[in-house]
Amino acid sequence: MLLHYPNKKTEKEIFDSISDVELIQINTADGPNMLIQANNLVALKQLITKYNLANRIDLIYIDPPFATNNTFTITDGRASTISNSSNGTIAYTDTLKGYEFIEFIRERLVLLKMLLSDKGSIYLHIDYKIGHYVKIVMDEIFGIENFRNDITRIKCNPKNFARKGFGNMKDMILFYSKSENLIWNEPKMPYTEDDKVKLFPKIEKNGRRYTTIPLHAPGETQNGKTSKAFKGIFPPSGRHWRSDVSVLEKWDNDGLIEWSDNGNPRKKIFLDEQEGKRMQDIWDFKDPQYPVYPTEKNRDLLDIIVRTSSDESSIVLDCFAGSGTTLKAAQKNGRQWIGIDQSNEAIKAISTKIDTIENDLFISTSDYQVLKTKKEDETQIIDEQKYNKMKSAL
Ligand SMILES: C[S@@+](CC[C@H](N)C(=O)[O-])C[C@H]1O[C@@H](n2cnc3c(N)ncnc32)[C@H](O)[C@@H]1O
Repeated sequence: MLLHYPNKKTEKEIFDSISDVELIQINTADGPNMLIQANNLVALKQLITKYNLANRIDLIYIDPPFATNNTFTITDGRASTISNSSNGTIAYTDTLKGYEFIEFIRERLVLLKMLLSDKGSIYLHIDYKIGHYVKIVMDEIFGIENFRNDITRIKCNPKNFARKGFGNMKDMILFYSKSENLIWNEPKMPYTEDDKVKLFPKIEKNGRRYTTIPLHAPGETQNGKTSKAFKGIFPPSGRHWRSDVSVLEKWDNDGLIEWSDNGNPRKKIFLDEQEGKRMQDIWDFKDPQYPVYPTEKNRDLLDIIVRTSSDESSIVLDCFAGSGTTLKAAQKNGRQWIGIDQSNEAIKAISTKIDTIENDLFISTSDYQVLKTKKEDETQIIDEQKYNKMKSAL
């Protein structure tokens, strides 16, 4: 399935039309982490052509503007006044609409796919108004077979605004991999007290909570070790024992099998031996109440994504870095990172966030290169001109 709209470029046209603007380092750090202040399209091309990073990035998280037609500002660092008001310093504008917005995202995605390693993943954070169009574009670029999840993120408490429509408490995170062979460190969620009682309803004499599961699983094995009789019982027809009969004997001797009154054996599963429950695709990670940057995301959300979809040897990239929530999560988890943003306010917020990470035995502080494009960043200047015009028209 393809999305058709005017002025849609081919992937080659996208790549060829991006100008080659050199990045220059403006500090003396020589660590591998990079903070780049630039239009991300230009910077991503440089990462491919000059920094040989094609196929090297294991994890990309992006949280681009959502086509909201807003201008986001910061006033005297007062977090509570961060809004789309006409006061304060401009952080970023979000004025592209319709197919122009979709093509803006698509251009970046084409380059991001080139950077993604074969075991890499990309998470794109977007809202419910435009997200379904972005999904079609992502299917086109990454392949629908590599679509993993549309994660529903609960972003706030219920709202009671009067409006003909239901309250909106969620946005979406579209998750794709480059291939079947993605990095996956299974995340586990702690059981709630309610879960413990519901999922592990039985209690041993010594107080350990447990549940039981059948000893057999679907599928028959012909003459295999899992189709033999266990204590004179064969697995039901169409099923086989979960383990060799010798293992079942050992479990039984160790008291790990429970026999029902009618002689049916089941395996005991103890609560205190479980790491937690499987994470599902509805995530409750509300945005910070006092953000340091407009639309700053929840740090635990990024922590989960970084730990699940990257390893310690991985490079993590966020090319709409904002206040650096992704970069901080990467740093704290010992990953290498690259952050790109064109806004002065974002670069300031990122530096503060990264420089104030407290180092301890497990977390090291970061030494990172700061790079800029050689030319003054035109996009930011254009945005500011538009914004000033808008302000004087008010
Ligand atoms: C929604 S915010 C990201 C917030 C971030 N996830 C956080 O937790 O703080 C989007 C960011 O993308 C940046 N941005 C928008 N267009 C860009 C472009 N073409 N190149 C580089 N950065 C861009 C904006 O300056 C803004 O900081």
